[in-house]
Amino acid sequence: MKLALLGCGNVGSEVVRLMRTRGEELASRVGEPVEIVGIAVRRLDRDRSHLPVEKELFTTDALGLVKRDDVDIVVEVAGGIEPARTWITTALAEGKSVVTANKALLAEDGPALSAAAKAGGADLYYEAAAAAAIPLMRPLRESLHGDTINRVLGIVNGTTNYILSQMSQTGAAFEEALREATELGYAEADPTADVDNYDAAAKAALIASLAFHTHIDLGEVYREGIRDVSAADIASAAAQGRVVKPLCIATREADGVSVRVHPAMIPATHPLANVNGAYNAVFVEAESAGRLMFYGAGAGGTETASAVLGDIVAVARNKRGGITAFPPEAAYQDLPVKPIGEARTRYHVSLDVVDEPGVLARVAATFAHHGVSLATVHQSGQGDEARLVVVTHTAADKQLSDTVAELSQLTSVHEVTSVMRVEGE
Ligand SMILES: NC(=O)c1ccc[n+]([C@@H]2O[C@H](COP(=O)([O-])OP(=O)(O)OC[C@H]3O[C@@H](n4cnc5c(N)ncnc54)[C@H](OP(=O)(O)O)[C@@H]3O)[C@@H](O)[C@H]2O)c1
Repeated sequence: MKLALLGCGNVGSEVVRLMRTRGEELASRVGEPVEIVGIAVRRLDRDRSHLPVEKELFTTDALGLVKRDDVDIVVEVAGGIEPARTWITTALAEGKSVVTANKALLAEDGPALSAAAKAGGADLYYEAAAAAAIPLMRPLRESLHGDTINRVLGIVNGTTNYILSQMSQTGAAFEEALREATELGYAEADPTADVDNYDAAAKAALIASLAFHTHIDLGEVYREGIRDVSAADIASAAAQGRVVKPLCIATREADGVSVRVHPAMIPATHPLANVNGAYNAVFVEAESAGRLMFYGAGAGGTETASAVLGDIVAVARNKRGGITAFPPEAAYQDLPVKPIGEARTRYHVSLDVVDEPGVLARVAATFAHHGVSLATVHQSGQGDEARLVVVTHTAADKQLSDTVAELSQLTSVHEVTSVMRVEGE
């Protein structure tokens, strides 16, 4: 079996190393050896002498490599939208099975790629795309295929989880925790994709699409980053027995699905509350299986390569058996995606208020005016320091945003300092 590798960076170089060191075992598992016949890179002159692979295998002509007659499997670990999309669709059209870790491309173009796989009679596997080493795509696509999944709650980005964990453990402000994450290599020099939750939104689209057998477009995922989370939010959560986590939340309701990524408070007793640092976890609630949790490394070259190798073995076996394993039918449900205004959850709202009699009543009346009922109200400080922290019962996002808009107009309210969703209760 002949394999073309597109990309030899963090993930690709580990795919090369592991395929070489585990070659015999992989051959036993597949039933025949799987040989890398070419590796496409951008810079031929980059030093790769540490890799156990012949220099002659490297090329900058990725498309030419994909089209080679002797290639059976294409592994795309270069990333980005183009030219990765052209490489993958070309491979699939020629009946070559594809393994990819490219969440950005899958979230943008998943249905077209699935259709190309079906038309070409080829496999398209992407276990590493959503949660790197954590097996999630296959459990959703296979193990839970007889069940009905109603909710998925996940921590799917190690950078944001590291930053919020540090803020919780040390009391650091966001900027300080981000600086430390960058110094330690947990955050990129440009942290936008992670910190503003673009990466998590792409993963949420993939996870929700598989969980609910529908297609969730990346643009339909509601996204808020973690830049506005303050040390005061973290402290307030802790005082109430909660922690702040970067969550991906996908729910199925009677009239559609809701998919969002944003920071949220969860109870300190929730299984996701103890997922700290760069670790990731996904918590699945299924009708018959009940509550399941998938936990592990959500990034890292070696860890991600493990999932890529698993896919290589699977597609190679399928090729030997003359089959494609996954009929790309994941989207048969065609469920409507609800706008964020209709998402229902609880809220933690902090307000700086004027220290005078009747303020509490006016604030409570504003919540009531929009049909939002209050679970707890905590008042602290005096004079300029007077502060109210309100936790609501379940309400629609639109009800809450209308409430906040009206609260901001009250003369007794200096400022609504923070609004955070409360999940997992
Ligand atoms: N890193 C992780 O922890 C992780 C986890 C899960 C999923 N993923 C996904 O895995 C993929 C790869 O990530 P990575 O971290 O390994 O990226 P990376 O370190 O930046 O490596 C990218 C590789 O692709 C090559 N490349 C880029 N553009 C190319 C082009 N136009 N033609 C030929 N080669 C090209 C680069 O060549 P040069 O070496 O010459 O620059 C490099 O070898 C991405 O889709 C990413 O989202 C990564």
